[in-house]
Amino acid sequence: MSRYDVERISDNVHWVGVKDWDRRLFDSLIPMPEGTTYNSYLVRGKKAALIDTVNPGFEGELLAKISSVMDPADIEHIVMNHAEPDHAGSLPFMLGKCPKATVLATERGARLASMYYDVPEDRLQIVKDGDALDLGGLTLRFAEAPWLHWPETMFTFLEEERVLFPCDFLGAHTARGLWDDQNDELYFHAKRYFGQIMMPFRKQGQRGLEKARGYDPLIIAPSHGPVHRHPKRIMDLYEEWTEGRTRSKVVIVYVSMWSSTAQMVRTMSERLTAEGVEVAVHELTGADLGDIAKDLVDARAIVLGSPTVLGGLHPMAAYAASLVKALRPPAKYAAVLSSYAWGGGAVKQAGEILGPTGMEIVGVVDVSGPPREAQHQAVAELASELAARVRG
Ligand SMILES: Cc1cc2nc3c(=O)[nH]c(=O)nc-3n(C[C@H](O)[C@H](O)[C@H](O)COP(=O)(O)O)c2cc1C
Ligand SMILES: [Fe+2]
Ligand SMILES: [Fe+2]
Repeated sequence: MSRYDVERISDNVHWVGVKDWDRRLFDSLIPMPEGTTYNSYLVRGKKAALIDTVNPGFEGELLAKISSVMDPADIEHIVMNHAEPDHAGSLPFMLGKCPKATVLATERGARLASMYYDVPEDRLQIVKDGDALDLGGLTLRFAEAPWLHWPETMFTFLEEERVLFPCDFLGAHTARGLWDDQNDELYFHAKRYFGQIMMPFRKQGQRGLEKARGYDPLIIAPSHGPVHRHPKRIMDLYEEWTEGRTRSKVVIVYVSMWSSTAQMVRTMSERLTAEGVEVAVHELTGADLGDIAKDLVDARAIVLGSPTVLGGLHPMAAYAASLVKALRPPAKYAAVLSSYAWGGGAVKQAGEILGPTGMEIVGVVDVSGPPREAQHQAVAELASELAARVRG
């Protein structure tokens, strides 16, 4: 078994997680340009607790790291803050290596642990909001924090050393850096991550943040990405993001087969820029979903550009529109730019998908064939109208 130099993040907490530099996709959806980490932490008082495990496939590394610090067989508790396999998938393996250990989870967490990992009932211990676990000289306090981002999620707080373990909340997909100040692009990655994973749950995020602040943590040790030893920075950002504080900014996502829609997008983006509005343009066939999600975190309006294909949106645009709907960004306004040849249909489908989001569709320009001067003028006028809303 390999030996590891296991890092300590506070007096009695070791980081026993793994770095997955090579992973490029999460949830079969989310690109991760710098990989990610699966952070697992070993807390040692007179008794020892493991906080979360790692993605399946890395069990051996987790075990080797724990073994560098203590005999895994002496671990008495495994805290499962979240049941998703990237953190709980190594539970069956670890329960085999830690015969004395019970799994601590919320009631919903316990049900998921049985469902996914066949954790036997006699090895499950349900914790409620505010419950404490005495490790002998150290105390773990549990806080229910549902829907961050599954219904069972909770936080764990090590009181004596003021280390907060919020699992996915406040995390980032990047393998770079053990500490926040060792990754100069951490907040870029954290914003992408927030947009993809936490944005649909902003209300719950506000409550989670309030709980986190209430603990006044010295260290925030999430389940992905570096450990925050400047906890205020990430909490202040989450305050903006969970509140849905938007800026004078428009995100344009579009696809175009023969450049008609693309020409309208150019006119739109130039006029918005001329009107003093920040613009982010994403061409969908080459776009990184994480970049789009990041831009949606604080954009005040969204423009969707798509030709009509087979009576509806181009499939890439339908995908983008569905994603916007699912991610529930705080944007208030939308507009649609489209081109068709014989019957149209893209605009109708865009309305069907975006309608339920509650965003106001400020305007639509739907052109037969390529746009001429008059249609460019219409796009420019729509841009001015959008700019007025966005600035207001
Ligand atoms: C595969 C395919 C399917 C299309 N389906 C439709 C359609 O159902 N209705 C329609 O009015 N035009 C349809 N069109 C025509 C395009 O909407 C039209 O060429 C449009 O101007 C293309 O805009 P773009 O240059 O932004 O790609 C289709 C074109 C292609 C290539
Ligand atoms: Fe998760
Ligand atoms: Fe995760």
